[in-house]
Amino acid sequence: MRLLVTGGCGFIGTNFVYMMLEKYPDMVIVNLDKLTYAGNRRNVLALEKKLGGSRYHFAHGDIANAELVAHLLVSHRIDAVVNFAAESHVDRSIADCGPFITTNVLGTQVLLDTARRLNIPKFVHVSTDEVYGTLGPQGKFSEETPLAPNSPYSASKAAADMLCRAFFETHNFPVTITRCSNNYGPYQFPEKLIPLMILKASRGESLPVYGDGQNVRDWIHVSDHCRGVELALMKGRPGQVYNFGGNAEKANIEVVKIILRALGKSEDLVSFVKDRPGHDRRYAMDYSLAAKELGFAPQYSFEQGIAETLKWYQDNAKWLEEVQSGAYRTFMDTWYGERR
Ligand code: NAD
Ligand code: DAU
Repeated sequence: MRLLVTGGCGFIGTNFVYMMLEKYPDMVIVNLDKLTYAGNRRNVLALEKKLGGSRYHFAHGDIANAELVAHLLVSHRIDAVVNFAAESHVDRSIADCGPFITTNVLGTQVLLDTARRLNIPKFVHVSTDEVYGTLGPQGKFSEETPLAPNSPYSASKAAADMLCRAFFETHNFPVTITRCSNNYGPYQFPEKLIPLMILKASRGESLPVYGDGQNVRDWIHVSDHCRGVELALMKGRPGQVYNFGGNAEKANIEVVKIILRALGKSEDLVSFVKDRPGHDRRYAMDYSLAAKELGFAPQYSFEQGIAETLKWYQDNAKWLEEVQSGAYRTFMDTWYGERR
C-alpha cells in the first residue's frame, strides 16, 4: 500500500507513521506536512535517515494546495489518503479561528476534491469526539449522536466531517471518518493538558487548571488511536463513522494529581484559573461499532499509559525543552541547510 499521510510531523501523525512503516514492510508513506508550530520534522528524523527516498518521503506543504496534492497523489501512485493535518488546539481556536477554517475546512475540501478527481480508492479522515459537543454526568457519544460543536475548533472539524459525508452521499467517494477521544503519549505538543502539566511540574511551576477541574475526558493512549485508524483504513466501510475511546474517564484535576504524585511534586503547585469559554464538561465514547466491525479495543489502561508517557518525557527532556523554547525550528533550518 502507498499512503499519503497528512500532518505526519504532528503528535498523532508521527506515532502513526512509525507504527505503519514498522508493521508493514512493503508500505510506502508520503508525509505531507506544512510544519506549523505543531509540526516537528525532527520527530521523524530517524525515518528520514533509515528509509528516506525509499519507503518514506517527506513533502513540505499545505493540504490546501491542490496542485501539490495532485502532484503527490500521481507521482507516488498513492492508493489511500489518511488525513491527520489540522489546527488542533481548542484554546488557539478561541483566540483566532481563521487558521482552523483554512486548514480544517478548506484544506479537507481540497484533499477530498483532488483525491476524488484522481479516483483514490480509500480516504480516512481523522476527526474528533468534540464534534458531538458535551455530555452530562451520564451516557456516551455514539456515531448517531447529533453533532453539536461548542468551540471554533470543533465547529471546523464538524464542518469537515459534513463535507466528507457529502462526498460519500453525492459522489460515492470512499471516505471513512474516525472520531476519537483525548490522546496522550510520546511527541504531544506541550500546550495540551498532559505534556503541559508534566513540563510545568518538572520545573516546579504552577499548574493552571481551568474552572473547578471537574471536566472529564476519556483518555486514550496514542498507539491505541493509531491502531484504530489502521483498522479503519484496512477494514472500514466507505461512508461510515467509527468512534474510538480509551475506557478511561478522568476529571482533569485527577489527571493533574496523578502526574504530581508520579513526579514527587506537591499538590500546592495546582492553581485553579479562569475557565475556558464554552468548556465542554464531559466526553465519553461508545466504541461498540468499531469493536464489532473492526475488532477495535484499546490495549492500554490509563495507569500503564501514563507511567510510560511520564517515562518518555523524562527520557526525552531535551525534546520537550526544544519544543518549548522553539529551538527545534532552528535545528531544522541548520540540519537541512547543511544537507542542501
Ligand atoms: P497536532 O497539532 O499535534 O499536529 C497537526 C499536524 O498537522 C502538524 O504536524 C502540523 O504541521 C500539520 N498541519 C497543520 N496544518 C496543515 C496544513 N494546512 N497542511 C499540512 N499540514 C498541516 O495534532 P494532533 O494532536 O496530532 O491531531 C491530529 C489529528 O487528530 C487532528 O485532525 C485532530 O483534530 C485529530 N484528533 C486529535 C486528538 C488529540 O487528542 N490530540 C483526538 C482526536 C482527534
Ligand atoms: O477530545 C479530543 C480532543 O482532545 C482533540 O480533538 C483536540 O485536538 C485535543 O486538543 C483535545 O482537546 P481538549 O480541549 O480536550 O484538550 P486539552 O489538552 O486542551 O485540554 C484537556 C482538558 O484540560 C480540558 O478540559 C481543558 C483542561 N485544561 C487544558 C489546559 C491546556 C486545563 O485545565 N488547563 C490547561 O492548561
